[in-house]
Amino acid sequence: MPIDPDKKRRRIIVGGSLTLAGLFGWHWYRRNSASSPSDTLGPAALPSDPLVPKRFAANELLEVVDASQPFTISARRLDHALSAEHRASMLLYDVEQAGRNFLNPILEIRRGQVLQARFWNQLDETSIVHWHGLTVDANNDGNPHYAVRGGEIYPYRFPIQNRAATCWYHPHPHGAAASQIYRGLASFLIVRDEDDDRLCKALDLKLGVTDIPLLIQDRRIDHSGQFVRVANGTDQFLGYLGAEIMVNYQRKPMLDVTPRVYRLRLLNGSSARIFRLAFMQGGRPMAFQVIGTDNGLLERPLAAKEAFLAPGERLDILLDLRELAAGTSLTLRSLAFDAMREPLAELCRTSPPTANMTHGQMNSTLDPNTSVTPKPIPDGAAMDLLAIRVLDGPRISAGIPTRLSSPPTIDYRRAAIRTFELDHHDMQWRINGLRFDMVKTQVNVALGSTEVWEFRNPPLGMPHPMHLHGFAFKPIERVDSPAEVKRLAIDKSGLAAAETGFKDTILVWPGERVRVAVKFDHDFPGEQVYMLHCHNLEHEDQGMMLNVRIVRETANRT
Ligand code: C2O
Ligand code: CU
Ligand code: CU
Repeated sequence: MPIDPDKKRRRIIVGGSLTLAGLFGWHWYRRNSASSPSDTLGPAALPSDPLVPKRFAANELLEVVDASQPFTISARRLDHALSAEHRASMLLYDVEQAGRNFLNPILEIRRGQVLQARFWNQLDETSIVHWHGLTVDANNDGNPHYAVRGGEIYPYRFPIQNRAATCWYHPHPHGAAASQIYRGLASFLIVRDEDDDRLCKALDLKLGVTDIPLLIQDRRIDHSGQFVRVANGTDQFLGYLGAEIMVNYQRKPMLDVTPRVYRLRLLNGSSARIFRLAFMQGGRPMAFQVIGTDNGLLERPLAAKEAFLAPGERLDILLDLRELAAGTSLTLRSLAFDAMREPLAELCRTSPPTANMTHGQMNSTLDPNTSVTPKPIPDGAAMDLLAIRVLDGPRISAGIPTRLSSPPTIDYRRAAIRTFELDHHDMQWRINGLRFDMVKTQVNVALGSTEVWEFRNPPLGMPHPMHLHGFAFKPIERVDSPAEVKRLAIDKSGLAAAETGFKDTILVWPGERVRVAVKFDHDFPGEQVYMLHCHNLEHEDQGMMLNVRIVRETANRT
C-alpha cells in the first residue's frame, strides 16, 4: 500500500505545543521535540498504571474516509504491523477511494447521502460486508444470503436513512463471522445529521481528536504476536473469550486528553465478552453523560456511572474532564460482575461439547483441546480497557448541551406481542426452538405494523445480545433482571440510562424478559428478509439466528 504524505495524523496545536499526540487510529507516536506532551509532563508524573504503553508506531488503521464518494472495499489477508513490536497476520478491509487506500477506515456519511461501494472478496473463503445498524433494503444489508466466494464482487448502493449514529461494518458469512471479525474485519460507520452538527459545534468536537471511536475487543495473542483462535467445545458453546484487550487494534491502549469535554463512541466488537464499563478516577467511578445509543442521539443527556456493553452494542457518551488537573489518570475499566456462566460451564464439564469447527476457523490444524493458548480472562472479571491520561492544555469551558435531538416515538399500545424464547438443546443455542435455516422463513412480519417483541431467557441460560437487522427498536422494559442489572434501572421500566434510546442490539440476561417496540416501516419495494440473531458471534455462527421476512399482506402473518 503506498504511503501518502497527507495521511499524516491529525494533531491540534494549541499555544505552540502539541497537546494531543496524534492519537487518531492510535498513532501515539512519540515526537522527540521538546514540546511533546510527554516531555512536558515528565516521566515522574506518569501514572503508574500498568496500561501505560511504550510509544507505538502508527498502526495505520481507522482513518476517516468520506463514504459519500464511491469506494471499493476489499477483504484481504495482510501481515500488518500493529506497532513497532507487533506484526500480526490479519484479515483487514482495504478501502480504495480515488486512488488512495485505507485499512479498516472509519466510514463517515450524512443522512440523505448515497453509499456506493463494491465489496471485493480477496479472501479464500466466503464473505460479505454487513452494515450493522443501517436501515437498508435486504439487497444492501450484507447478510449471509448475499455472501460471495473468494474472488467475487458484491455491489452496494443505497441512501442513508438513519439518524446520526455510531454504526459499524463487519463480515456476515454464515458460520464464519466470528473468525473473520476476530482476525480483524471490523470498523465504524458514522452517520451525521443536523442534530449531530449542532452537538459537534457546541462542543467543538472533531472526529479522532475530541470525538473518539473506541472499538473494544478481547483476543488471545500468542508470544509471536499472532491472534489465536482455537475454540474448543466449551468456547463454541459459551463464546470465545480473550486473554487481553485491544482498543482500535492496539494492545495496552492509552488515550491522551486535555481538560475539556470529550465524546467517546464505544463499540463492543468482541466475540462474546460483555463489559461493565466505568471510568475510574482515584478508585471511584466518574459520572459520564449518555448521549446516544446504538441507533442515535437521545433527546437529552442522561447521567450514568456505569453501563453494560455487550457484543454488537454501541454507546455514545460525553466525558467531562474540564475540572481535571494535568497529570490525572483515569481508567476505562470493566468492573467485575456475575456473568452467570457457572451452571453452563458445569454442564460443559459434565457433558463436554465437541468442537464443531466450521469453515473459516483459524488454526484448525491444532487440536483445540490440547494446544497451548494464552489463558482467557474469566467472563465477568474486572479488567482495565483503556488508560486515559490528562495532559496540560487550554481549559475549554464549553459545557454539555441540554437538548440533543427529537427521536421518533413508537405507539405500541395496541401492538401484538411476539415472544422469542432463547434456549439450548444438545449444546446448540436456539430461538423459539429453531436454528438458522438459510431457506426457511421463520418469522413473518407485516410491513407497516408495530410489534412488541419479548425476549425470554430461562434462568439456566447465559446472556444473549439479541440483534435485529433493518430496523431500530425502542426498549420498553426489563422484568426479573439480575441484581446488577436492576441496580442500573432509571425508573420502573427496569431500563438503564444506556438503553433509553433506539437500539438494534439488546442484552437479555438469564431469567429475564425484555420487551422492545419495533415499527416495521420502510419504503423498500417487495419482500425483504432480515436477520434476527444473537451477537455472541459463536452463537450466531452456530445458528442462533432466524430469517425475518417483511411481508406486504397481513394474511401471511405467522
Ligand atoms: Cu453485527 Cu447480523 O450483525
Ligand atoms: Cu446487523
Ligand atoms: Cu447467545
